Amino acid sequence: MCGIIGYIGDRKASEVLISGLSHLEYRGYDSSGIALMRGSDVQIFKAQGKLKNLIEILKDKEDVCSSAHIGIGHIRWATHGLPTTINAHPHTCDCKSLILVHNGIIENYQELKEELTALGCHFVSQTDTEVAAHLIAHEYGKTKNLLKAMQQAVKKIKGAFAFCAIHKNEPDRIVVAKRNAPLVIGVGQDENFIASDIPAIIEYTKKAIYLSDGQVGVVKKNSIEIYDENDLITQNKIENLPFEAIAISKMGYKHFMLKEIHEQSDVVRNVLSGKLISHDDKIKLEEFKLTPEKIKKIQRVQIVACGTSLHAGMVGKYIIERYAGIPTDVEPSSEYIYRETIADENTLVIGISQSGETADTITAIKQVKEKNSHIIIITNRADSTMARLADSLLPVSAGIEVSVAATKSYMAQLISLYMLAIYLMEQKGIEKYHDEIVNLKQELIELPNKIEALLENTNDIKLLAKKYSSYKDFIFIARGINFPSALEGALKLKEISYINATGYGAGELKHGPIAMLDENMPVLAILNQGVVYDKVLSNCEEARARQAKLIGVADYVAPKDKDLFDDLILIPHVSDILSPALNIIVLQLLAYYIAEYLGKDVDQPRNLAKSVTVE
Ligand code: F6R
Repeated sequence: MCGIIGYIGDRKASEVLISGLSHLEYRGYDSSGIALMRGSDVQIFKAQGKLKNLIEILKDKEDVCSSAHIGIGHIRWATHGLPTTINAHPHTCDCKSLILVHNGIIENYQELKEELTALGCHFVSQTDTEVAAHLIAHEYGKTKNLLKAMQQAVKKIKGAFAFCAIHKNEPDRIVVAKRNAPLVIGVGQDENFIASDIPAIIEYTKKAIYLSDGQVGVVKKNSIEIYDENDLITQNKIENLPFEAIAISKMGYKHFMLKEIHEQSDVVRNVLSGKLISHDDKIKLEEFKLTPEKIKKIQRVQIVACGTSLHAGMVGKYIIERYAGIPTDVEPSSEYIYRETIADENTLVIGISQSGETADTITAIKQVKEKNSHIIIITNRADSTMARLADSLLPVSAGIEVSVAATKSYMAQLISLYMLAIYLMEQKGIEKYHDEIVNLKQELIELPNKIEALLENTNDIKLLAKKYSSYKDFIFIARGINFPSALEGALKLKEISYINATGYGAGELKHGPIAMLDENMPVLAILNQGVVYDKVLSNCEEARARQAKLIGVADYVAPKDKDLFDDLILIPHVSDILSPALNIIVLQLLAYYIAEYLGKDVDQPRNLAKSVTVE
């Protein structure tokens, strides 16, 4: 959450900062601001709302914009205080000498604020960041050295932060610090960059230094110094960045979300590549570091994730339990971290995260690491904090996902979980499902073509979206392996269209939710030929009897049952076990077209951010 950018070099700092912030907008977009430094003169510009409002303000500030070559910037996702201009970063101290941008949450900010108030500091915003600005400035008063001031201040701060600070008395440097929030220093020739994520700087440099938790850095035009938690100088490796700037473009689609939905066939091909060669070969998973002997000793699997990644994990539970025969729990990371969890060296813990930066999941993984469990991280960001905590890293390589609503990364997570479940089964030598697995492998190989066939004809879904866009509530139902699809379909709809949508196991309908059904409550049912098909059909009858509008998403409906549905979307047939990978595309498209029809900001829905780096 929140994006940070910093620049020092010969370019116009304002251009680098605005360009960087535009690539960080997915991290938050309720306000933004930059500070430009020319010698000891610092000018701060802030705006409420989207980045375009800040760009508008800068239009008649050409003088400072063209002559400043050092600056820091921020795009905000509000945690403390309303999304107003006053609360927007950068923040300063009373004498306006110290200027700070921050990502994270300072947990002891109230205590610090009281102490600083007693020392005479005045606060103008409601933010925790302003407290940090005063604290660093206070330490500067004692040390007259920005590095030392930062080092002293971070020792007093509890919580998570990535800081980027400048001081009027030290116009040749930016001082940075990090704990439990991402921060990377882009290394250039006679210039350096700072960002909370790579897309912000990738057009300028392909080399970077990742700060570790507890480190503080001094970034100058021609040098970078890093200090460890004990304030001793240390050396961090310069790494090559894994992205191409070209990846961050809409490529002619109206929104990133639509582009990313359409990329899913290639995403499946990418995930399968090198792992699944043919239906009669074993899965190759070189990234998985446990030996077959250790795999045989695994007593339980625990999956921790949030939101969409959690839904992928729920599908994972079905397939790991079925094929690998290992009891599997799936839990939101935010719940996992606040109870006594039972895990040991025979527990396999799977953390799933698109961004690899989700604070709750990182905390869960750190907790369980102490119990000697083997940790697999399934992430789209091999360069993320979570990836660095992995014992086995399964990068899903879906390509950067810009739209806040996760689509292709979900697909990549699903396919990775199929690979993992089959791999565990094969390493354990389980033969029971041999024929079924041969068939599933063939279906996985054919899946990209089926996705493409589905995406070629989306007219029915567009018409459906238009027809149902005026409804205020929706219910999604399914059973078995598609229960998570119902949850994910409902999540997609609510997050981008703001329509109240809830997913239920279809069998649960009659235990309460059915009370809500009438002609104003559309029910979307997911049906696939398989063990629960008839059961879901009966649940559809129950909904129909309450006059709910009924939408079916199915691979087959017998002619005698067709009249049950007001609308029916038929998709290519795949076996029940693989059907979540096709069904979800219909639900993604439905959510997309409803939101688009309603004129919503599809790629940047209100109140959300792509990377949730606060607990
Ligand atoms: C919804 C969505 C979120 C994320 C959740 C976890 O479209 O994207 O629900 O899935 O915030 O994020 P990651 O996967 O980055 O850990």
